[in-house]
Amino acid sequence: MSDIDLAIIDGTVVTGEGTQHADVLVKDGKILAVERGAGHRAGQVIDAGGKIVLPGGIDVHTHFLVGFMSKRSVYDMFSGSVAALRGGTTSVVDFALQRRGRSLMDGLRHRRTQADPHVALDYGLHVVVTDVNEQTLAELPALADAGVTSFKAYMTYEKEGLMLDDGALLSLLRAAGREGALVGVHAENEKIIARETARALAKGETGPRFHALTRPPIAEAEAIRRAMSLAEAAGAGIYIFHMALGRELGNLRAARKRGAPVFAETCPHYLVLDDSSYERSDGQLYVMSPPLRSPDDREELWAGIADGTVVAVGSDDASFSARAKTEGADSFATTVNGVYGAEFRLPLLYTFGVESGKLTLPQMVKVWSEWPARLFGLAPQKGSIRPGADADLAIIDPARVERLTTQSHYGPIGYNIYDGMEVRGIPVLTILRGNVVVDKGQFLGSAGQGRFLKRQRPDFVRS
Ligand code: URP
Ligand code: ZN
Repeated sequence: MSDIDLAIIDGTVVTGEGTQHADVLVKDGKILAVERGAGHRAGQVIDAGGKIVLPGGIDVHTHFLVGFMSKRSVYDMFSGSVAALRGGTTSVVDFALQRRGRSLMDGLRHRRTQADPHVALDYGLHVVVTDVNEQTLAELPALADAGVTSFKAYMTYEKEGLMLDDGALLSLLRAAGREGALVGVHAENEKIIARETARALAKGETGPRFHALTRPPIAEAEAIRRAMSLAEAAGAGIYIFHMALGRELGNLRAARKRGAPVFAETCPHYLVLDDSSYERSDGQLYVMSPPLRSPDDREELWAGIADGTVVAVGSDDASFSARAKTEGADSFATTVNGVYGAEFRLPLLYTFGVESGKLTLPQMVKVWSEWPARLFGLAPQKGSIRPGADADLAIIDPARVERLTTQSHYGPIGYNIYDGMEVRGIPVLTILRGNVVVDKGQFLGSAGQGRFLKRQRPDFVRS
């Protein structure tokens, strides 16, 4: 019997440190070694000649099986995980919601009941805190023991019952800071949005373009600055989920230079699209929050990835169908917010980042898997191709070009905001803990094969 179960031979192996032409050797679901010329001894050999071997992606921002604004996502925990795996992502950190009047731990248990029997990739959970009081804050140590070392706070969505006010957010940040946990925020100024929305609706301005106009740049900028100030006062780290406003990265850069643990995430749609999409006749399909911004903001986001200010590209996958997005479309205010994206993170990053010369492969890998794994307590088990890590891999063929269509994604989404784009980098193989789980788009795994990831405390990435 071979001492190597699987070898992926002859590929270009990428980590955040660099690239090398090597074989990846796998034993018992873990990476045994990365070296040249030893692969032929393996029980199973995959020839990766001419291909690029990447760490399996870590997507720290998915909303599988979610209900929002009276709509339900297409993806449940199973189908969402298949979509993510098809896109080369092997671990996600999804969300457990604290239901009003209930404990954080209850939210965690409830979400695990929904996920554990069905999930097909490895997953962790952030707990969304909606009710900050002495009891909930006292739960943080127990949650950290249960593997939850990050929390999410919404600075908007008041009428949806999600928003925390500044006092509550500061208390949460203090408690998280004491625990060494990380708070991530949806940063938008509720009061500006509410007033601008009311004003627009009173004038009958209901089209999709008013979604962006009623969430102006200052609504995002002010909330980001406030979140950073509160975190600094609390002595805590802060993660800005789904940053759209590239022009605001200068403030984060300055804060990081001062040593403040401030981290930005952006999403594929902010990197590839801009606010001209709201002028389309199907502009409602592009409604997400924060909204798409200007082409200049988009370029600033790419620059932020290249210089390490943006530490993660999360999908913010919220898979509402074309029908769900269109049902409320007579007004932007009733159009459900959110777009899918877990499946397209890699081809969009590769095509519009690496192929276009904005990023090197190692820079891409940092935001694709390595830094999110470190920041959210998954490293060294996840996020990189190194001996001892889980053998989670995504293999792409840089020569293969595919055209995205409304049929490209897994499941009945019914539209594609990237329709017509020609991309490279859709994985030809995805490997989870040493097993091939997707082969050219075909899912070969099973429901429930994913494991809950008990995460360590964050490692505040310095770049
Ligand atoms: O529009 C978005 N981003 N929908 C998903 C929920 C959230 O995080 O805002
Ligand atoms: Zn959000």
